[in-house]
Amino acid sequence: MLAVMGTDHGIQYQKPPRNLSRDVRRNHGMKEDVYKFWEEQSKKGIKSGTKDLILDELERKAISSFLTNGLHVLEVGCGDGRNSIEMRQHFDVHVDAFDYSPGMVSAATENARQALISDINFFVHDLNEVDSLEKKYDLVVSKRALINLSDYNTQVEVIKRISKVLKPGGLFLMCESSKRGLDTINTARVSLELDQITPPWHNVYIDDDKLASEALPLELAQRLDFSSTYYFLSRVVNAKMAKMNGSLPDYDSPINKWALQLPVFGQMGQTILWIWRNPH
Ligand SMILES: C[S@@+](CC[C@H](N)C(=O)[O-])C[C@H]1O[C@@H](n2cnc3c(N)ncnc32)[C@H](O)[C@@H]1O
Repeated sequence: MLAVMGTDHGIQYQKPPRNLSRDVRRNHGMKEDVYKFWEEQSKKGIKSGTKDLILDELERKAISSFLTNGLHVLEVGCGDGRNSIEMRQHFDVHVDAFDYSPGMVSAATENARQALISDINFFVHDLNEVDSLEKKYDLVVSKRALINLSDYNTQVEVIKRISKVLKPGGLFLMCESSKRGLDTINTARVSLELDQITPPWHNVYIDDDKLASEALPLELAQRLDFSSTYYFLSRVVNAKMAKMNGSLPDYDSPINKWALQLPVFGQMGQTILWIWRNPH
């Protein structure tokens, strides 16, 4: 497993020892590249976590439908903290939130200060060690964080670790990109002669089918395809219209915004909200 070294500035990935196999060294290098990527992204303000702000809004809405006053919530891979801040603005909840990028944690702290929220505990921490936290939570939230882990097995390992910081009956709201969702979108795109979408280099989308048969300490309560309408409109309809007009699709197009008003239909969501319950 990757060695992480604590520094005064937070986590820093070390170069892999020379005696490791080429595959292990490559994997190690990838992790370091992904970490550096997020440190760079942290300087990009509101678009640090994604350029797709409509998706971001839909995700925050889906997550907040599970909140009630009084809950103790942990957000993992919180980025610039906007989801944590919004949860605290709308509910009387206790929020702890971490990211392994010190730049993201600084941005989150500053965003909370500007929003006049002073009681969210933002800190630098690694998802791979989430179970080293002592506190237990009613709710753990991830929003496109686990897809940055290096492979499927690491994602499963981290889900198991997250189960250890949940109270009995507590929920893990796992809002992550789905391989099955992307495959469905691509099938529709190909039939309209659009290029297939490939995940960004630093992401491993969740393999729904494998995960469904995985023995996990958490029970799957629901798999919410909340972003299906949006992905159909943005990645199929808007993409096809842009191609017909000889332009590039815009994240901000009016067609994409209709998804904020329309009901959810279909099974084309690339981002899924998995709701896991800790039965123990
Ligand atoms: C796509 S961004 C999403 C940020 C935020 N959750 C949001 O939705 O705006 C992914 C975030 O996960 C963080 N991340 C990636 N790997 C991590 C790890 N191993 N431990 C903690 N945070 C991690 C990145 O630094 C980045 O801020």
